[in-house]
Amino acid sequence: IANGLGMTPPMGWNSWNHFHCDIDENMIKATADGLVSSGLARLGYVYVNIDDCWAEKTRDCKGNLRPKKSTFPSGIKAVADYVHSKGLKLGIYSDAGFYTCSKTQPGSLGYEKQDAQTFASWGIDYLKYDNCFNDGSRPTVRYPVMTRALMKTGRPIYISLCEWGDLHPAEWGFNVGNSWRTTNDISDTWESMISKADENEVYAHLARPGGWNDPDMLEVGNGGMTENEYVVHFSLWAISKSPLLLGFDVANATATRAVAHIVGNEEVIRINQDPLGVQAKKVRMMGSREIWAGPISGYRFVVMLLNRADTGDDDTVTAYWDDVGIPPNSVVEVRDVWEHKTLGRAVAGNISATMPPRSCKLYILKPVG
Ligand code: DGJ
Repeated sequence: IANGLGMTPPMGWNSWNHFHCDIDENMIKATADGLVSSGLARLGYVYVNIDDCWAEKTRDCKGNLRPKKSTFPSGIKAVADYVHSKGLKLGIYSDAGFYTCSKTQPGSLGYEKQDAQTFASWGIDYLKYDNCFNDGSRPTVRYPVMTRALMKTGRPIYISLCEWGDLHPAEWGFNVGNSWRTTNDISDTWESMISKADENEVYAHLARPGGWNDPDMLEVGNGGMTENEYVVHFSLWAISKSPLLLGFDVANATATRAVAHIVGNEEVIRINQDPLGVQAKKVRMMGSREIWAGPISGYRFVVMLLNRADTGDDDTVTAYWDDVGIPPNSVVEVRDVWEHKTLGRAVAGNISATMPPRSCKLYILKPVG
């Protein structure tokens, strides 16, 4: 949507993947502190997003949403002020239905103007808008009502459509939000993660600055996948120009240190945040070996060599310049963004790597001369 936001995919944190409904104002503030002290905020992780379960079950006598007394006693405005004082932004969550998915709080259907005003008055910077318990009408009817209401407030609020991909939001989302979920919920397993990446890839041609495909939030750091699997997860999300919303306990310094080399990899983040804003695609599939590639700024290309076999011996994966869109006899400078090494200049017309199951290599290719 042309609200000036999301010119690159949003980066930050969201409470859902790790905490579900177990949230309160102190842990939201502690998360903001964690983003700053770990250095992740400096790398671009600026949105602190409260997901479901922040409100009382009923509206007040004027029909306003109310922060839950027991968990957000100071109110959302106070949390927003705190988060802003750290140089960060605050996101919140609602639903285009009668209740949110947890059924613990009202949805915004029929209250869009009022709720948008409330969010703006609290200083909210991002709204994730879910799809549970709706009236059965089309999302293309329900979602734009909230979009218009948010735009009318005059406050720049990033709009994240959480329609789960049922009605191909990639095809209509650009006029309604800054990103749209293309999948149902991720879980912290390889199978779930890789299937979300696949489902999301189908819509690659529809992503662009201002409107991104969203294969759901990151699970890196939550413990369900191996190191290599999390590297694949973060690599896929980065090259898919997906929102990079951390989903682990960022307030826990030990947990954060353990994954800082993955989610804090500046070279990979820079691919995600590249101004060209083109989502990488699968360009070659050979059984469990895949090549994903796409252009980035400065006549460069990102290419991922993926061994998605579940078990077995190491396997060699090869990407040809042709797959990537580089003339076959070009001299190409190859940068390995996980090893942080420039691999000299390759003229062979391809690049190969041997790797274990469920792992990848991620390169930036730059044709030179
Ligand atoms: C469904 C969404 O897809 C999830 O990301 C999360 O927001 C939950 N609802 C919250 O109930």
